[in-house]
Amino acid sequence: MAWAVPSVMMDRAGRRLLPGGRPSSVGEAAPPSLHHLEGRDVVEILITEAQIQERVRELGRQIEADYQGRPLTIVAILTGSLIVLADLIRQIQLPLRVALLQASSYKGATTTAGALIINESFAPDVAGRDVLLLDDILDTGHTLATLVHRMSDRGALRVRTAVLLRKKGRQEVQIEPDYCGFEIPDAFVVGYGLDFDDDYRHLPYVAVLPSSHD
Ligand code: IMP
Ligand code: MG
Repeated sequence: MAWAVPSVMMDRAGRRLLPGGRPSSVGEAAPPSLHHLEGRDVVEILITEAQIQERVRELGRQIEADYQGRPLTIVAILTGSLIVLADLIRQIQLPLRVALLQASSYKGATTTAGALIINESFAPDVAGRDVLLLDDILDTGHTLATLVHRMSDRGALRVRTAVLLRKKGRQEVQIEPDYCGFEIPDAFVVGYGLDFDDDYRHLPYVAVLPSSHD
C-alpha cells in the first residue's frame, strides 16, 4: 500500500507552518505566538486526514462485506483506538455491537518491560459472537495476541483483528491482522488517537514526533 509522506510542518493545534515557522493559511486566525513553540510542539505529518478517512471507508466496506449475517461485536482497545472506532463503525452498515477494553503496557522498574495490564470492567459478553478486536497500532504484537486469547476464553465464536497502523520491523509475536490501514516505518507516531504521554491524541492526522522524543 502506497502512502505519501507530505512532510508538512504543523503546530500541535493542527495549524500549518511555513518552514520559518509562520502560519501559511489565509483566513485562519494566526496562532498566538509561534516563536514560543518549543521543538516538541512541531510535528511532521505522515498520513493526512484525507488519506485516513479514505482508508477507513475502505476498511468499513471490507468489514461490511465479510460480516454479512454474522453477529459482530467490535471490541476496541482503549485509549488509542477511540478515534478510529468512532470513524470506522459509522462506515459499517450492519447490525453490530461495540464494546471496550483497556490495555496498557506497564514498563515500570518492578515489572518486566511491556507487561500488559488489562482492564476488563467494560468487557462485553461475547459468547457465541464474532469479535473484531480493534487497536490503533500493531507494534510488538503482544497486546493484540494477548487479547485474542482473552476473547476466545470468554467464548467468542471467532476472533479477528483490525489495526489502523502496523509498524514495520518491530513485531515480536506472530500475529497477522485481518484488517490493516497503513504500514508505517519504525518511528514513534502520534495523532488520530495515538498519544505521547496522553498528549496529541486529538490531531486529525498521524504524525511523527521530532527526534527529541526518542
Ligand atoms: P504492542 O503490544 O507492542 O503491539 O503495542 C501496541 C500498543 O503500544 C498500542 O496500542 C499503542 O498504545 C502503543 N504504541 C506502540 N507504538 C506506538 C507509537 O508509535 N505511538 C503511540 N503509541 C504506540
Ligand atoms: Mg494502545
